[in-house]
Amino acid sequence: MALTPIIFFETTDKEKRYLKKKFDKSFELTFYPGELNEVNSNSISGAVIISPFIYSEINAKVLEKAKKLKLIATRSTGFNHIDVKKAQSKNISVANVPYYGENTVAEHTFALILALSRNIHKAYVRTTRNDFALNGLQGFDLKGKTLGVIGAGSIGVHVIKIAKGFGMKVITHDPKPNHILTELLDFQYVSLEELLKNSDIITMHCPYNQYTHHLINMGNINLVKKNALFINTARSGVIEPQALYYAIDNNIFGGAGLDVFEGEDLLKEENQMLTKNVSVEHLEVLLRRNILLRRENVIITPHMAFDSAEAVERIMDTTVENIKSFLAGKNYHKVI
Ligand code: NAI
Repeated sequence: MALTPIIFFETTDKEKRYLKKKFDKSFELTFYPGELNEVNSNSISGAVIISPFIYSEINAKVLEKAKKLKLIATRSTGFNHIDVKKAQSKNISVANVPYYGENTVAEHTFALILALSRNIHKAYVRTTRNDFALNGLQGFDLKGKTLGVIGAGSIGVHVIKIAKGFGMKVITHDPKPNHILTELLDFQYVSLEELLKNSDIITMHCPYNQYTHHLINMGNINLVKKNALFINTARSGVIEPQALYYAIDNNIFGGAGLDVFEGEDLLKEENQMLTKNVSVEHLEVLLRRNILLRRENVIITPHMAFDSAEAVERIMDTTVENIKSFLAGKNYHKVI
């Protein structure tokens, strides 16, 4: 019997051990720690199923190399790293993991909010230097403050629940309001403009697509309430980079907690940049990122909001289910 070849990209040794236990001998499993991209795209020519994470850039050129591919089972919620139109044109299905980590990402969102609201990051650096002075560390209460949630889907709703536990008022912007939820959780849907004007903390939980590209931009950034905190665990493209830098420079944002940021993918290549031809645009992105890193009121985490032990196991379990259900002709989490 012919084996079904599956290639997993971006897997750690721990994930590899876990996944190996989930498939029987009718599968031929290959694991690469690195991402799939145009350079190594020949590797997928014989694969029937591939399973990437978000740093693999599965564009049209990469998909051209896929001769037998039937399913891309991304181990993530977002799938903007996959050219789904091209996949569709080649009759390749795409599956994702829609629900693995609403609490996980929501908890990280609050880790960023609390770090900024209570200056935990500054205090940590100071105490490691044996400095226990309080000056400059006074924070503010979350109780009574207004949280603006942009995108009240799985993660956004979990953020709302946590916010209610802190005694916050919540306003939300989402083109698909769910009025049962507003009654259950006691929050209000408002326009984007109202949300920007009235939120003490703005947190992004919408997907990144053509409609949410630069949702916050130079045209609406001045609506933001002075000194609001800005939290982004969604995707960097939901805010125009210029608007983010302008807001931080001009105290429009009193602070920012960014799990996703412009040029995340370039970071990995930073060490090779001195020996490679690098475009001016790339250098500008890195320069902007380095400026942000030096700001005391900006906390950057390396796209790790999803990364709890429990969530990663849920991701792998759903991916395995997606693959097995696809092959058995059953329902799975189908993107296209
Ligand atoms: P979801 O699909 O359950 O919810 C997204 C919500 O955004 C929906 O209610 C939708 O109606 C709303 N929305 C769509 N367009 C909008 C717009 N123009 N303005 C405001 N709201 C809009 O997705 P989920 O699971 O809550 O995830 C949200 C995003 O979080 C993902 O698309 C992904 O990019 C990001 N994410 C980040 C992770 C990380 O590790 N940093 C991990 C998991 C997800």
